[in-house]
Amino acid sequence: MRSFDRHRRLRSGEAIRRMVREHQLSPDDFIYPLFVVEGTGIRREVPSMPGVFHYSLDQIDDELDEVVELGIPSVILFGVPESKDACGTSAYADDGIVQQAIRYVKERHPSLYVMADTCLCQYTDHGHCGVAEDGEIVNDESLRILTKTAVSQAQAGADMIAPSNMMDGFVTAIREGLDEAGFVQTPILSYAVKYASAFYGPFRDAAHSTPQFGDRRTYQMDPANAREALREAESDIAEGADMLMVKPGMAYMDIIRRLKERFDIPVCAYNVSGEYSMIKAAAQQGWIDEQAVVLEMLTGLKRAGAELILTYHAKEAARWLREG
Ligand code: PBG
Repeated sequence: MRSFDRHRRLRSGEAIRRMVREHQLSPDDFIYPLFVVEGTGIRREVPSMPGVFHYSLDQIDDELDEVVELGIPSVILFGVPESKDACGTSAYADDGIVQQAIRYVKERHPSLYVMADTCLCQYTDHGHCGVAEDGEIVNDESLRILTKTAVSQAQAGADMIAPSNMMDGFVTAIREGLDEAGFVQTPILSYAVKYASAFYGPFRDAAHSTPQFGDRRTYQMDPANAREALREAESDIAEGADMLMVKPGMAYMDIIRRLKERFDIPVCAYNVSGEYSMIKAAAQQGWIDEQAVVLEMLTGLKRAGAELILTYHAKEAARWLREG
């Protein structure tokens, strides 16, 4: 018989499989998203995202305690404000919902690392991520408001600024703004590579941020493009980004891998709402083994090259990992 390789030798039992395993998930890998709303007494499940809730700040303690207890080091805050206007002024208000939430979380859990999502879509009445003029999203005027937003988030105590708006030059503008305001130590996680994706559907329900006209394709990327992602990432690194985000995650693992190979700063994957909801729906039908599928998917994102994974599954995954 011709000779062949015996790959199965290293798969023969659990001990040897553990010994040669190349990637391990850990709660350290996770960033947990939280939706905060104005008002009191609110703990409302997002219909399209079972297990994900809107919290008013008086209801959020148990959730925060659980995140900390599970060993998840970081949360990212998304605000759902009561009032919206054309310029998204509640995005940078000192008493805006996210600013209040940042202060509250840092006060209760000083060591929990708090990221702020810097975008305007939840705050503008038209639902776009920038300022609209005659049906167009105007880049440079948007930068001015986004910078104010980032600075107000840093002033409230955010540990990291995570701009997701996809305007050109947002890292330069926000870096300058943060530095001038004295926040030279506050890092920027740039959503450098964010695609115009249908996988954001459930989030837009959750954040009430569906665009009221047009779509986001003049600023978010075309899903068909990969080399463009490298150009986006290159600009953002040159502008001062400390980490890069690829969003969505699952359908874009090739992009995660290419960024990882090309650049030497940490790469983060956003495992988005549509990815979460598909798994939840299939699990509710009994069509998949939820725990196995979630852990396999998160491992896949890590294997693709993500150092960090922003995921709605963070709490349950951390629990499953602990239970072994
Ligand atoms: C926009 C933003 C989006 C998400 C978070 N912030 C995308 C969008 O609506 O274009 C989506 C996140 C998700 O789907 O989980 N700032």
